[in-house]
Amino acid sequence: MGMENSLENRVEELTKLLDEHNYNYYVLANPTISDYEFDMLLQELIQLETANPELLKPTSPSQRVGGEITQQFRNVKHKYPMLSLGNTYSEEDIVDFDERIAKTIGDTPDYVCELKYDGVAIALTYENGELKQALTRGDGESGDDVTTNVKTIKTIPLTLRGQDYPRSFEIRGEIFMPLKSFLEINKEREEADEPLLANPRNACAGTIKMMDSAVVASRNLDCALYHVLCDDELSDSHYQDIDSAKQWGFKVSEYTEKVRGVAGIIAYIDKWNIKREQLPFEIDGVVIKVNNYKHQKTLGFTAKSPRWAISYKFKAQKVATKLEAITYQVGRTGAITPVANLNPVLLAGTTVKRASLHNADIIEKLDVRIGDTVFVEKGGEIIPKIVGVDLDKRPLDAHAVTYISICPECNAPLQRLTGEAKHYCVNEQACPPQVKGKIEHFISRKAMDIDSLGEETIAQLYESGLVKSIADLYELKKEQILALDRMAEKSANNLIDGIKASKQVPFERVLFGIGIRHIGETTAKKLAFCFKDIDALRSASFDQLIAVGDIGERTANTIIEFFNNETNNHIIERLKSYGLCFHLSEEELLNTSDKLQGSTFVVSGVFANHSRDEIKKLIEKHGGRNVGSISGKTSYVIAGDKMGPEKFKKAQKLNITILTETEFIEMVGEGENA
Ligand code: IVH
Repeated sequence: MGMENSLENRVEELTKLLDEHNYNYYVLANPTISDYEFDMLLQELIQLETANPELLKPTSPSQRVGGEITQQFRNVKHKYPMLSLGNTYSEEDIVDFDERIAKTIGDTPDYVCELKYDGVAIALTYENGELKQALTRGDGESGDDVTTNVKTIKTIPLTLRGQDYPRSFEIRGEIFMPLKSFLEINKEREEADEPLLANPRNACAGTIKMMDSAVVASRNLDCALYHVLCDDELSDSHYQDIDSAKQWGFKVSEYTEKVRGVAGIIAYIDKWNIKREQLPFEIDGVVIKVNNYKHQKTLGFTAKSPRWAISYKFKAQKVATKLEAITYQVGRTGAITPVANLNPVLLAGTTVKRASLHNADIIEKLDVRIGDTVFVEKGGEIIPKIVGVDLDKRPLDAHAVTYISICPECNAPLQRLTGEAKHYCVNEQACPPQVKGKIEHFISRKAMDIDSLGEETIAQLYESGLVKSIADLYELKKEQILALDRMAEKSANNLIDGIKASKQVPFERVLFGIGIRHIGETTAKKLAFCFKDIDALRSASFDQLIAVGDIGERTANTIIEFFNNETNNHIIERLKSYGLCFHLSEEELLNTSDKLQGSTFVVSGVFANHSRDEIKKLIEKHGGRNVGSISGKTSYVIAGDKMGPEKFKKAQKLNITILTETEFIEMVGEGENA
């Protein structure tokens, strides 16, 4: 008994510590321990909870890591409907708003001006100081329960601070994706040849509805709270309640201001219309609220929105300038992007010289011509875009743009596949940006992890003719590296060591590294475990390839094409001769089988002896496939503790075999390892 008690105490203690450090780091931006120390505490908590599932609380800091899968978001009715705001676009509208209010309450009141965060509205319910539920706006009457995903957002407290909070209340705010996270995700997507996310708001909306909360956790969403709702009266004003919320541990906007009269509002709008460019997140306007609750009550609501608040939307800033020329950029994947070269012009605080024209279709649709006066806009996207042409100013001799047909970097012909918007340079093996891109991918962390080699050195190695393909890296001599610009003895040694060490990298990562188009990290792993060595993969037929889970026709074709190419095969043979790993290791082979080939699994709940991730890895190791949700095609559901009753019912209804952890472990014959 004493033992259990002390375990419980430790879990409680770790929870407190982690909550405190999380608050210091994310809400106050003032950490007091190292990331490493934090991780150690978290690991300890996760271990204790895994070994003693009865100690896992829904508000445990371990929930921030994610891992739970939501098959379907439950639709829940809002306790208080989520209204929207009336929009205004001009100073006159603001004057009208103030006049209407002054008429009703007899005077111009105190206003609270806030930034209008461009994200996704969220309603959080707290009971006894614990986060109980997070709902999206939905249609305003009812929204989706996204609690599991919301728990991964570090600025949202799972447990409140102090004692002064109401027993039960709701708080609303905006979940948003900071620009930094957005740019990072798009950089990764670009490297993986995946379509880019359009803007932070879309990225945020997509993320909050993801099934896998571990992915949500990795996306660094943030949240600012701006509205407290409670059956009991807390204070007499909005400003006061927001300040209380701050004391309870919420992150509230640091940019909120209490102002008086129209002049105060206009000054706030003008300030942020310019300064918004410097914010680390996007806003699309400001929100103006009557501060005093008594006044709010007198003003009341229309059918759709409160009369005591209004939003002022910034205009997308737009300027006119001359299109001097169109140049073409070649990306790492060979994709061509036309770029408008503009007569430099000031837009939203920065000088714009260039704007993306995206692809041939956009140029055609806009009918832009060299010499045209074009309108450039900075909207939701990061890169300014051309939105139109001032036809009145078109020079007489301006003629339509003829899109290039050969690559500006290597003169190889361009190709445009049906269904694709972009043109591509076909000279994959010798087009400079493509070759450098391949090398950058090859040495990246998730592939060969040669971290002593950066973009700049790669460019030098390539331009000096020393490295023209990934295979050439393994022929590099120290003296050759030393001869490069700004290369010291130590960096040269590191590089040689890094290259040598990469020969130990396991097959699945080498396979990812050689850069077959559309083959990401996960697919590479699947292929490696399915075919076991490069020769088997090379001779795989189309049918064999698409039999592998998640490999579609397009990917199967790119694999076949890749191995039909002599240059690729030559590079692989060379890499083999240098000792790179092109087959699964003895250990990996011993541990794999194709017992589960062709079966799909849904893993749900908490398990006594394995984490959910471990179970999933076992499934993959034995050739099975993990899927997110139960459907008619699911072969098995592996059910742990706390699997939702709805899922259970669904599996039963569809007649899907439900396995316990033990049954599954026996099935794959891993009992002795467990
Ligand atoms: S107050 C009745 N404050 O804008 C009060 N909303 O157009 C309604 N938003 O759905 C919300 N920043 O998603 C409020 N500081 C802020 C806001 C804000 C962004 C969003 C919110 C709302 C929409 C209304």
